[in-house]
Amino acid sequence: MKISVIGGGYVGLVSSICFAQLGHSVDLIEIEKDKCDAINAGRPPLYEAGLEDLLSIHAGRRLHAHAEYKNTKNSDLTFICVGTPQSSNGYPNLSPISSACKFLGKSLMDKENGDFHVVVVKSTVPPGTTEKLIMPTVLKYACRGTDEIGFAVNPEFLREGLAIYDFMNPDRIVIGSIEESVGDQVQAVYEGIKAPVVRTGLTTAEMIKYASNAFLAAKISYANEIGNICKMLGVNVYEVMHGVGLDSRIGLEFLKAGAGFGGSCFPKDVMALIALAKDLGEDPILLRSVIEVNERQPIKIVDLLSKRIGDLRGKRIAIIGLSFKENTDDVRESRSITVIKELKRRGATIAAYDPKAISSMKRILPDVDYYSSAAEALAHADACLVMTEWPEFSLLDKEFNLMNRRVIIEARRILCCSDCEGICW
Ligand code: UGA
Repeated sequence: MKISVIGGGYVGLVSSICFAQLGHSVDLIEIEKDKCDAINAGRPPLYEAGLEDLLSIHAGRRLHAHAEYKNTKNSDLTFICVGTPQSSNGYPNLSPISSACKFLGKSLMDKENGDFHVVVVKSTVPPGTTEKLIMPTVLKYACRGTDEIGFAVNPEFLREGLAIYDFMNPDRIVIGSIEESVGDQVQAVYEGIKAPVVRTGLTTAEMIKYASNAFLAAKISYANEIGNICKMLGVNVYEVMHGVGLDSRIGLEFLKAGAGFGGSCFPKDVMALIALAKDLGEDPILLRSVIEVNERQPIKIVDLLSKRIGDLRGKRIAIIGLSFKENTDDVRESRSITVIKELKRRGATIAAYDPKAISSMKRILPDVDYYSSAAEALAHADACLVMTEWPEFSLLDKEFNLMNRRVIIEARRILCCSDCEGICW
């Protein structure tokens, strides 16, 4: 099939490459020319395991990036994958989506008469957005009706760091549409992937995405709350959650306690659901608590550190791990940001290391000393916080001897040395 994808960010780029891998011909629309050039040259503009290998196979062959929209009109389907960053009222900012819809509509105005085109929304948008905003905008600018352009919602469930694996091995594929035939066309794109397909209406599909992310976030906050109680009891929360998660009704996944969830999805999506609930006259008590627990966790790890080494003024603290999770260079909503800001507020100086995320963190926190290895960051530190679960951190041990004193606290259970302490264990 001929597919166009709007947005060369995380979701758009991974989806484009995976569509190409499935045998489709893909035109990726990315308005930043530098990113287009990088993609066409086989250089991924972001770090994701396996991306570079697949890009080197498909760039310039089945996958072409363009800074303009005109190729969309020659495709059978267009996937909208632009970002929906959080705005100040809790809702996502939909102006990038509106603008993409206008340009897409204008391009589809020139499509061959009689050719049916399907617009598929992959971006995470509040329930009702496809029907109320995306459909009318595209149809208006295209000067066409629903007899010539169909609409579907096909949320993504990719985890950064595992995105290509998740795309090729999904737990389910959710497709929302009004017309069954439109949903069928979207389903055909995924031929070759074995997974249950859930067919729904547009708004239901949008809600499935929010409800999934909010539930996973709730599992994490639950594990953190239980973890905080375990810490007081002197019990290891990882052992507790193993015993809990083996119950098939609960499941083992997303029960790892730590400094809370970050990233571009969970915090934003839970906040959007809270804003939506409030607008509908519902008080989302549980969702509010999910956020409250999450905001408290990074402060808890700093409090724990203070308990161990006292006043933080003038102390040098090594922060090992900056990305919001392992295997990515993404620092959006990373708990390390909150922790570093709190440490600095209490007068500490920071020595930081991350295998991939230093340049992205430098843009947010330029006033931190960054080092190119854990050993260098640890040298002469008064204490260290290991914030993320990068596999290479599991090997750290003798590097801690370079510190003034081995005071080692981890925000996720990753270290092997016997003298480290966990935030909740
Ligand atoms: C999340 C969802 O897992 C994906 O299904 C979804 O497609 C994506 O959001 C999205 O909406 O685009 P992602 O944010 O990439 O994916 O990463 P996760 O692996 O879900 O981790 C999110 C945060 O939760 C990280 O900070 C991670 O460290 C934290 N986490 C995860 C925990 O604290 N404990 C856990 O047990 C699991």
